Amino acid sequence: MNKNLLFDEIDKQISLSWMQEKQFVKYGEMRYALLGYNDLDIAKWESEHGKPVLDTRPNDYFSIQKISEALEAKISQVPKEIHVSSPLFQDWQVGVKHSLKQIMGSECIMLLKSGTEANLIATDMLSHKNIPVYFDKHTHATTRCGFNLARGRMLESIEVFKNALNRLEKSNTSEEDIRRIIQKPLLKILESVGFYSFNHNDYDDLDERIKKHGPGVVYTEGLFSVYGDLLKPEIAEIAKKHDCSLVIDESHSLFGTATSDLTINRTLPAKADILTASLSKGGCSLLGVIGLQPEFFEKRYIYLEKKLNRPLTDAERERAKLSLFNLFRRHTIFVFSNAPSDIEESGLQARMNFLFQNPERRAVLLDKTKYIREKIRNAGIKLLSESPMMFIEIGSEPDSVEFRNYLIEQYGIIGSLYMPPATPINGAGVRLCVNYDICSDNEQVERFIYGIIDAHKKLKFDNICRKKNELYFLWSQRRFFVTGF
Ligand SMILES: Cc1ncc(COP(=O)(O)O)c(C=O)c1O
Repeated sequence: MNKNLLFDEIDKQISLSWMQEKQFVKYGEMRYALLGYNDLDIAKWESEHGKPVLDTRPNDYFSIQKISEALEAKISQVPKEIHVSSPLFQDWQVGVKHSLKQIMGSECIMLLKSGTEANLIATDMLSHKNIPVYFDKHTHATTRCGFNLARGRMLESIEVFKNALNRLEKSNTSEEDIRRIIQKPLLKILESVGFYSFNHNDYDDLDERIKKHGPGVVYTEGLFSVYGDLLKPEIAEIAKKHDCSLVIDESHSLFGTATSDLTINRTLPAKADILTASLSKGGCSLLGVIGLQPEFFEKRYIYLEKKLNRPLTDAERERAKLSLFNLFRRHTIFVFSNAPSDIEESGLQARMNFLFQNPERRAVLLDKTKYIREKIRNAGIKLLSESPMMFIEIGSEPDSVEFRNYLIEQYGIIGSLYMPPATPINGAGVRLCVNYDICSDNEQVERFIYGIIDAHKKLKFDNICRKKNELYFLWSQRRFFVTGF
């Protein structure tokens, strides 16, 4: 018999995703159903309308991706490029790392190749048996992926448990007795790997959960990547009140995309212990960062002092700081994967220099996006955003495609289609990230506002939402809905 367990599993997955593809064929009758405009379409639209398209897909909030300073800095690095086999072999707090450290107010920085690496390391390092993890339901998919890795590591004890169970079964113990015997240890194992989601930005819900399961680590985001709303400061207060550690993903808020401060953390009444960020958003560079914050080290010093029952000397504090930092630097991803590219680093440094030498970019972005949000809301359109990232919720996927295409065809506004699993079921829509270039041109600002209002008025959405498990069967098997791309 042709039996291959691995390919049996792969086969199941393929037939499920095949169902999705069939569904796409159905929606595919609508043009651009999946990917949106290509370069040729853009050129055609621009020549027919005599004005530029507004491409709101990238997260280049400050419009600094293509500045000549960054291109020149990157090109100058090309002849010198070498691939270092691990960031461990790089100088650690110099150059762009030093600049990031200042901006994030961190004690130590780990520069990585992506925000994904940053989230995987942060989640893995802080997930331990008996320490509950609390995460906002809108936390990014890469953080959840980190939880799953950690969960796998911690469930090793399940194997021991299974062996004991086998032995019990062989010993002719009755089923009822087995159930009675295993109930307690099983519950303990499950509790020891407690990962609890709390309702989005709902500090009362977080409070309740911590009261029930005890202090642990709270994960959240500064600027949430689908709806563009900001972290509620009360979340940080609740974390502090219960003596929890706080980790904030600042991918979209770093460099001050939504507040006059350069990070959301700086605006909070209680500060985070760890910050993570993708530098591919406002920083336009293929890098990521972890910032170990002063609060994290302070907690460590207090813990050691209590243990020693005396204050630490300066030398001891320094050693305690280094040993904590080095523990993070010993993570597999840090040790065994290539270091970030010098080319990307120099591009990021040039972009950061440019941004801080041209502070009006941030001011214009903050000011004009506030104006845009107000106008859209005044037209009766629901908008949760408090930042340049705006999500217009439509409901069903076909209606969202229709809305997105109308914006492109009539107004040259190119948005990103967001649908499950990036949104809840029947919460599909279009995400539009406004940037400095749009904000600094009145015609573009007004076109953006009017385009969205007009599309909302003109389109009659039939709202035939799909049923819960009609589509994306593959995803619905997973336990959480995930956000962000
Ligand atoms: C909030 C958030 N965190 C992490 C990431 C992952 O970052 P990267 O693309 O650099 O791996 C993203 C990217 O979409 C994100 O939006």
